[in-house]
Amino acid sequence: MKFLVINGPNINMLGIREPDIYGKQSYKDLIKFVKDSAKQRSLKVKLFQSNSEAAIVTEIQKAYRHFDGIIINPAAYTHTSVAILDALKAVAIPAVEVHISKVPEREAFRQVSYAGMYCFKTITGLGFKGYEEAMDALVEKLK
Ligand code: DQA
Repeated sequence: MKFLVINGPNINMLGIREPDIYGKQSYKDLIKFVKDSAKQRSLKVKLFQSNSEAAIVTEIQKAYRHFDGIIINPAAYTHTSVAILDALKAVAIPAVEVHISKVPEREAFRQVSYAGMYCFKTITGLGFKGYEEAMDALVEKLK
């Protein structure tokens, strides 16, 4: 099975940005964590991070017929992007939404998730472990 792992804006700033909320580990650490988790499960993964909504939409479109599952943390675009929701619907690849922080306990403006309207599962507040749980959820779904 081949999964695409997409991270949105400012996820490349992990370790620097608001460590009380997002932790002290860097995006490089996240890449390693995801790759190791995939290897343990004999899964293939591609990681993609962008600060651009358009680039994320294009990456989702390119996944059509190339990936079995998508793990997506759209970051701030979670709460604004109908374009990312529409791209997920267009390719119709099973997807899980992941958030590092405990989004349900945060500001009111973070309580809407457009991508979440497509994803069959949402994982929040588990830090990096959320990406690992997302892999297991996709494997279970695709069995
Ligand atoms: C986030 C939560 C979002 O609200 C925020 O804009 C982010 C990161 C998370 O992983 O907890 O950038 O998606």
